[in-house]
Amino acid sequence: MKIGCLHLDTPTVLAPLAGITNLPFRLLAREAGCGMVTTEMVSADGLVHGAAATFDLLRSRPQEKPLAVQIFGSEPTVMAEAAAIVEVSGADVVDLNFGCAVRKIVRAGAGVALMREPQRAESILRAVRNAVKIPLTIKIRSGWDRTGRDALAMGELAEACGVDALTLHPRTAAQKFSGSADWSLIAALKQRLRIPVIGNGDIRRADDARRMMAETGCDAVMIGRRAIGDPGIFAEVICCLAGHPLPIRDFNRRIEVMRRYVLLSVSCFEETRAARLMRSRLAWFGKGLRNSSGLRQSASRIGSIAEALDLIDAFQHSQKTAQRGAGTRPVISGGPLRPDPV
Ligand SMILES: Cc1cc2nc3c(=O)[nH]c(=O)nc-3n(C[C@H](O)[C@H](O)[C@H](O)COP(=O)(O)O)c2cc1C
Repeated sequence: MKIGCLHLDTPTVLAPLAGITNLPFRLLAREAGCGMVTTEMVSADGLVHGAAATFDLLRSRPQEKPLAVQIFGSEPTVMAEAAAIVEVSGADVVDLNFGCAVRKIVRAGAGVALMREPQRAESILRAVRNAVKIPLTIKIRSGWDRTGRDALAMGELAEACGVDALTLHPRTAAQKFSGSADWSLIAALKQRLRIPVIGNGDIRRADDARRMMAETGCDAVMIGRRAIGDPGIFAEVICCLAGHPLPIRDFNRRIEVMRRYVLLSVSCFEETRAARLMRSRLAWFGKGLRNSSGLRQSASRIGSIAEALDLIDAFQHSQKTAQRGAGTRPVISGGPLRPDPV
């Protein structure tokens, strides 16, 4: 799979997830074999105005590459300037958010609002294309009605403006995250365009990724919510696409990922910030395991990295004890996908 001149090792992409796809999380996804990782959406205004917290979102490491940085905004000149900043920061791809359906973003004329303003969208695409040499991608939704005509029109416009690849999450703006993703629209878009199409939406298990590629002809799959507690999904998808047996899913693997997340976080941020992050994030990795609610409660009181690691040890011990008691492997389920705010 190629995006412009950029080659991806595997046809898998980590979705942009606000508040989630930070540097340590992206490193985890790459370690699991993900072909390209994406930052959360970054405010173009914040970059252009030099906001420190916004610039912090551009921090990267060579090990996570290739990296796509997603920006959002509504002003062509601001988007172009922000894209140039992203390029200078060393990102491999700049991705434009044309799909966010959060009210605040849509009211500001950004995200999916651009799908009903083709002229403004075109100005943004042309301005950004002129501003950067690195590959340019956009991420869209179905648009404003179920026919998907906005998506097909935006796909053609993007291709004409020199966009190198496009991701489609086939839900309408109004749908937000209800109902199911209409994969047939990914197939329709793929038939219309020459640039690569990345399919996104409702991949819950490895075989869903294989099915999405087979049914739609898309060039790669993007995975969001399913990766949150278990970035190991990328390794499973890669095995499944190659026709190999899936890696064994057991609690030790999930707990190793938890430990790794703690260590990567403390290596990326200073300790107090990393420990604070663990209060809300550690529990993601225990989802579907026994006593995950106990883990969540205890994690909310974490005060240091040593405490986080002790908590993981205790959680692992409790899983082993439960396994011995039941004489079986603890149940692991991905659970339903969480409702998505974006
Ligand atoms: C918590 C959360 C944050 C998200 N943040 C973004 C974002 O910053 N930019 C974006 O384009 N999409 C965002 N999305 C949408 C996802 O990238 C993806 O399109 C959507 O979750 C559907 O894919 P999935 O079914 O694999 O989760 C977000 C979704 C969730 C659940």
